[in-house]
Amino acid sequence: MDDRQLVELACAAREQAYAPYSGFSVGAALLDADGRIWQGCNIENAAFGPTVCAERVALFKAVSEGVRSFEALAVAGGPAGESIAAFTAPCGVCRQVLREFCSDGFRIILAAPDGETRTFTLGELLPQSFGPSSLA
Ligand code: THU
Repeated sequence: MDDRQLVELACAAREQAYAPYSGFSVGAALLDADGRIWQGCNIENAAFGPTVCAERVALFKAVSEGVRSFEALAVAGGPAGESIAAFTAPCGVCRQVLREFCSDGFRIILAAPDGETRTFTLGELLPQSFGPSSLA
């Protein structure tokens, strides 16, 4: 599984996005330590607050199946019904939720049109973070 394939799976997951309020569709593909892929899309809600991002849907699917170890995540976003528009980075809440299960070196691949990607580590996107070890 290379980064390009992971991005393609994020784009495929994006097709399932339920985003009638923002009109912004996001897909995520999470690679676990055993090479399995967990896909997610954003799922909005009329009450707005319960909306869940694609990244957390993917992560929670994995964790709920007993998976705790992860390698990388690809994210693809853009206006619903259109091809991906720009680099969509995980929101602050998703970064913190990822922090619970992923190390500083966990890779986050952001997709853009024409196959371009930008890759960051979780440590870069959430520096000086508070995580499980902070409570040890
Ligand atoms: N969204 C995600 O799913 N992931 C992100 O990384 C950024 C934002 C969703 C939440 C909401 O449904 C829509 O995009 C607009 O914020």
